[in-house]
Amino acid sequence: MQTNNGHDLLAGKTIIVTGAATGIGQAFALGAGQQGAHVVVADMNDAEDTMAQLKAIGAGATFSKVDVSSEESTRAMAKTAMDATGRIDGLVNNAAYFREVKLTPFEELSDAVWDRILAVNVKGIWQCCKAVMPAMKAQKSGAVVNIASVVAVAGQPGYLHYVASKGAVLAMTKGLAKECGANGVRVNCIAPGFVLTDATKDRPIEWQQSFLKARALSREQRPNDLVGSALYLLSDLSDFVSGQTIVVDGGHIMY
Ligand SMILES: NC(=O)c1ccc[n+]([C@@H]2O[C@H](COP(=O)([O-])OP(=O)(O)OC[C@H]3O[C@@H](n4cnc5c(N)ncnc54)[C@H](O)[C@@H]3O)[C@@H](O)[C@H]2O)c1
Repeated sequence: MQTNNGHDLLAGKTIIVTGAATGIGQAFALGAGQQGAHVVVADMNDAEDTMAQLKAIGAGATFSKVDVSSEESTRAMAKTAMDATGRIDGLVNNAAYFREVKLTPFEELSDAVWDRILAVNVKGIWQCCKAVMPAMKAQKSGAVVNIASVVAVAGQPGYLHYVASKGAVLAMTKGLAKECGANGVRVNCIAPGFVLTDATKDRPIEWQQSFLKARALSREQRPNDLVGSALYLLSDLSDFVSGQTIVVDGGHIMY
């Protein structure tokens, strides 16, 4: 499909973006739509704004209400994509238990919060990958992009449950890449720095400024700063790249 702005990096591809109702996921969805993809906007919340913006740029879009931590729900998400276009070319595992995360000393974290964050951020990626794999295997191609965080590389006090979950995302990217390569499926990861979204705008200002000062490129990071890397990893431009993590944080962490 050719969109009205003439870009076609993802033309003919169907891309599922989880957590696409807001923030970074919304930016990924719009970026994919601008590049000609049919976008499956998958979120546990309604996503009228993302859907309206995709339609406004002439992109194909289908909404799927999903809880990524549920096998049944993620299977329904994959079926929605297949019913809409008959294929699944890309999956962006962006949904996360993140907005709700409160800075908490690790000795004070509750079992319930620990279990929920692992269920969404870790098990959720497993469930989503399981759900799309039959379609990708049948096509002998596919691109999965997992969203981790620089805190998985650098650590962050008061965030142990979140750091653990995102560390697992880095490791799962490598494990999945090795296991899926035989079927022509690539699995990569993006680790964002501190990004200004509705989820983070109320975090302490000193904390926000400490990230800004540590960057080689000393400015705020916005969701759109992540879109180019996601498009690269979803597209054929990266067709021999798998198991890699791109840190997109303005040059804070260098590893
Ligand atoms: N904003 C940052 O500073 C930052 C930094 C590093 C990594 N990240 C990661 O980027 C991603 C997006 O972050 P954001 O700032 O846009 O957050 P956000 O809270 O604005 O967006 C998360 C989206 O995921 C959805 N979601 C949450 N749980 C879900 C579930 N169980 N099933 C389906 N959908 C679910 C929410 O409804 C929401 O739309 C997350 O993976 C987050 O961990 C964010």
